[in-house]
Amino acid sequence: MNGSTDMPALYLDACATSPPAAEVLEAMAEVHRNAWANPSSLHGFGVAAAEVLERSRCSLADLLGCDSEELLFSSGGSESIHLALLGVAAALPPGRLLISAVEHPATLAAAEQLRRQGWQVVNVPVNHLGQVDRAALEPLLAAPTRLMSLIWGQSEVGTLQDIELIGGLCRAAGVLLHVDAVQVVGHRPLQFHTLPVDLLSLTAHKLQGPRGIGALLVRQGVPLLPLIGGGGQERGRRGGTEPVALAAGLARAVALAHGRLQAHGGLDPLEELRDSLLESLLALGGLELTGPDPRRGEVRLPHHISLLVSDQRGRPLDGRALVRAVRVSGKDAIQFSQDTEQLAQLIAQQAQDGDVVMCMGAGSIGTVPARVLALQATASGGQA
Ligand SMILES: Cc1ncc(COP(=O)(O)O)c(C=O)c1O
Repeated sequence: MNGSTDMPALYLDACATSPPAAEVLEAMAEVHRNAWANPSSLHGFGVAAAEVLERSRCSLADLLGCDSEELLFSSGGSESIHLALLGVAAALPPGRLLISAVEHPATLAAAEQLRRQGWQVVNVPVNHLGQVDRAALEPLLAAPTRLMSLIWGQSEVGTLQDIELIGGLCRAAGVLLHVDAVQVVGHRPLQFHTLPVDLLSLTAHKLQGPRGIGALLVRQGVPLLPLIGGGGQERGRRGGTEPVALAAGLARAVALAHGRLQAHGGLDPLEELRDSLLESLLALGGLELTGPDPRRGEVRLPHHISLLVSDQRGRPLDGRALVRAVRVSGKDAIQFSQDTEQLAQLIAQQAQDGDVVMCMGAGSIGTVPARVLALQATASGGQA
C-alpha cells in the first residue's frame, strides 16, 4: 500500500457496494427537501410525496420493461429474495424448491426457512464455470417442484446463467422462476416482460444508488403473500411507510445505468476496461482467473474479475484474512486508472508481498462514473 495521503484511493469493491452517483444524491436531496411527507397522507404534503413515489415506480417500470403494478419496493436484494421465495411459497401448497449450488446467502437463508416449513429444497449442480447443469436440471423440474430460484450474475466468480434457456425449461414444466438479478441490473439491458421469468430481485446500492432500497418485480398473476403486514402499502404486499427519497434515488440510478448502456449499443463500457485490466494482470503471473474466461469467449459479468492469487511456491493464498485494499497513488489517479498495465503492476507488487488482493469496482475510471472492475480473490469463498 502506498503511504501517500494526498491521492484518492482507487475503489475496487463495487460488487459489494458502489459509491452513489452525484445525480442520485441530488435527486434524493431534492425529495428530502420537497416531498418528505408520508405518501399515504391525504393532505397536499402527502400527495406530493405519493406523486414522487409513483413517478419513481413508473420510471423504473418503464426502464425495466414491466408494468408499474408489478414493481414492489423493498429494502434491498436480501428482502426481495425473501419476499419472492417465502411470499410465493406461502400462497402455494408445500412442494419442491430448486436453487443452484452457487446462490447468495440470502437465497440459502430463505430456502432454509422453507425447508423448515416442509418444502423440499434441492441444489441443482453447476459445471466448472458455475453454470447450471441442464442435464441435471431437467428431471428435477418434474412434480413436486413448484418454484426455482437462480442467481443470474454470480457475485464471486462472475458467472452469468442462461436465464432464457432455464426460464424456458421452467415455463414448459409449469415451475415458477425467481431470478436474483442484483449483480446484473445496470450492466446489461433487461426487459422483464420479454424474459421467461416470474419474479426478479434487484438492489440499488450495486448500481450507484443508495443502500436500503431494492425492488421485486412480480409478474401479474403470480401468487404472492406479504411477509410484512401494515398499512396496506405496496398494494398490500409489503407494509411500511415507503422511503420516497430512496425510491427516487433507485429510479435515478437505474436511469443513469440505462443511459450508459444505450450510449454503448447495449453493452457495459466497463467490459472493455475489464478485459484490458485482466490481460495486464494475467501477464504478470501468479494470478489465476476464476469463473468464465472472456478470452475464450465465455460470458461473465462485464464489470467483474475474480482472481486466485498464489504465493511464490504456487500455493493459492487463503483469502479473507489476508485481504486488503489497494490504494492508488501517483501523479494523477485518472490517468493512472486508464493505464491498466500500471494498475496491474501495482496490484502484483502488493500480491507479491504475500497478500491476497480483493478489490472490486472502482471509484472512477476515465469518464466512466464510479464502480468498475471487480477483482476478487476467491480463495476464501467470501461473498460480495
Ligand atoms: C447476487 C447477490 N444477491 C443478493 C445480494 C443481497 O443484496 P442486498 O445487499 O441489497 O441485500 C447481493 C449483495 O451482496 C448479491 O451480490
